[in-house]
Amino acid sequence: AQKSKESLYILTEVAKNFFVNQLHESEEGNMIGLSYFKERGFSNEIIKRFELGYSPNKWDAFAEYAEKKGYSKEVIEASGLVSYKEDGKRFDKFRERVIFPIYSYSGRPIGFGGRILRNDVKAAKYLNSPENEIYFKSKTLYGLFQAKQAILKKDECLLVEGYTDVLSMHQAGIENVVASSGTALTKEQIVMIKRLTSHVTVMYDGDAAGIRASFRGIDMILAQELNVKILPLPEGEDPDSFAKKHSSSELSAYIKDHSTDFIKFKANLLLEEAKQDPVKKSELIREIIKSIALIPNMIQRELYIMETAKIMEIREDVLFKTLAQIDNREE
Ligand code: CTP
Ligand code: MN
Ligand code: MN
Ligand code: MN
Ligand code: MN
Repeated sequence: AQKSKESLYILTEVAKNFFVNQLHESEEGNMIGLSYFKERGFSNEIIKRFELGYSPNKWDAFAEYAEKKGYSKEVIEASGLVSYKEDGKRFDKFRERVIFPIYSYSGRPIGFGGRILRNDVKAAKYLNSPENEIYFKSKTLYGLFQAKQAILKKDECLLVEGYTDVLSMHQAGIENVVASSGTALTKEQIVMIKRLTSHVTVMYDGDAAGIRASFRGIDMILAQELNVKILPLPEGEDPDSFAKKHSSSELSAYIKDHSTDFIKFKANLLLEEAKQDPVKKSELIREIIKSIALIPNMIQRELYIMETAKIMEIREDVLFKTLAQIDNREE
């Protein structure tokens, strides 16, 4: 197994270099891939640092390349980059897509995200490498390899949704950023962040899906005893689109001014509307207490209860009783 793992690492590195070469050296890659990244405003430096690539509009460009180099069909297929059919035909997974290599914690390429070039085409916007012996989605954070020093230095990790969010933040000089890449945040991912810092700020897309995902993520993060803030973006913006509309210093100022403790965020989001309505207000309070119930640390819990009591204008002892009820129900 060790041998097949090592050959997978090697082939994935070969594939990464293939996609990078296609982007920069082929005419198609230049005309289509590189100009796509340029149109989106990514700098040469970011394109180089994240080793962005291009996969040609051909059924088997990578398959042919890897076979010619002498890699076995078994390894090529195990990489997830090619599928072989009974009749001997083979199909590249990524065709006519721009490529985002995904790295392990120590910086080895382990998989890829491939983005379609036009939004109106009826196909998945992103395709991602399937899992194999070296790539586990639930144990991977996009950008962690490039972010780890900055996370340590700032003692904080910004969590975004997507590939391009990570790139644009880096381009704006903010490097302590990782992406969950669309999948629900996992315990393993949070544990990886926890080795570097105990402060996480969730900066998901400013749409309904983003807000829902950030609430789920916050609960996961709280359960791992990390401090969590939320950084709401204007409706319809994600970190990439927002960064492209503002200067680096405006972006930094926005992040500084709008990071909100999750309790305050959760409370304020609904409080104005709920204030007049006791039923809604009590539902909202229960929602918040449910999040607090996930916090293992007693002192932290107590502080959050006191904060909630203040915001909600309700007695602390009522909240402690509710917390005890929720705790009991979960056992
Ligand atoms: N994603 C995915 N498959 C999809 C859509 C999304 O894997 N069909 C993942 C990607 O990692 C993507 C992230 O979810 O980066 C966030 O999705 P979304 O906000 O829709 O995409 P953006 O990152 O904003 O991509 P872009 O700016 O290129 O449109
Ligand atoms: Mn600290
Ligand atoms: Mn989104
Ligand atoms: Mn987005
Ligand atoms: Mn986007």
